Amino acid sequence: MKHFTIVGNWKMHGAPKEAHKLVKRLQEKIKPHTHVTHVVCPPYVSLAEVAGILEPDKLKLGAQNLNEYDEGAYTGEVAGPMLRECGANYVIIGHSERRRYEHEDGKRLADKMAAALRNELKPILCVGEKLTEHKEGHAERVVVDQLQDALRHVSDDDIREVLIAYEPVWAIGTGEFAKPDDVTKMVTTIRRTVEESFGEGASSHLEVLYGGSANPDNAKAYLEIPTINGLLVGGASLNPAEFTAIIETAGKLAK
Ligand code: PGA
Repeated sequence: MKHFTIVGNWKMHGAPKEAHKLVKRLQEKIKPHTHVTHVVCPPYVSLAEVAGILEPDKLKLGAQNLNEYDEGAYTGEVAGPMLRECGANYVIIGHSERRRYEHEDGKRLADKMAAALRNELKPILCVGEKLTEHKEGHAERVVVDQLQDALRHVSDDDIREVLIAYEPVWAIGTGEFAKPDDVTKMVTTIRRTVEESFGEGASSHLEVLYGGSANPDNAKAYLEIPTINGLLVGGASLNPAEFTAIIETAGKLAK
């Protein structure tokens, strides 16, 4: 039986009142499924609000980022223990928007992975190539480098807690999405890279998600890829009808 994880990344949308409404509407529609985990990642300021109304058999809670330290003089930052106290169990790390706008590099992401794991947050590590890298045929090399950088402090035990999201940067928020055949090839590369560092068991246990303009129309094509375990959904996760349609597709395929 295949297990899927469907993650909604709300980005900078969903202040507490709006987040409350969205989660209520999602929970009215979502049916719990033993083999599908549904996660929403609202902005930091809405985590506690969402945690207060969460029905854990229907939705789990994730954050979109964390600081690599657990406390200290880091104005404006949010630490792993704070996320745990707000009810988060997952955290997105290395999203391309943070790599691009906040200049997060491999060393920092490796430290963030360690911070997530020591705080018992499941990291959803995002990797993916930019358009020029894609066009020039460097996608695989870029993704392998990103993986090796970010996973360098992860132990053989902790790799079991890690999810990897393959998100080609050119497909994020653009309405353009990667061809399922290309995604299949990249997932093979991702699993091989993990196998080289952590062994065959870790690679076969690993959950790999696809992200980049995922929507109810293309979700099935990705979820049918035998080596894919779910989706990281941006825009469509803010629309309860679209997000639940994606979840229902996963539910049917998980049977
Ligand atoms: P998108 O975003 O689905 O809007 O393309 C995906 C993401 O950024 O995680």
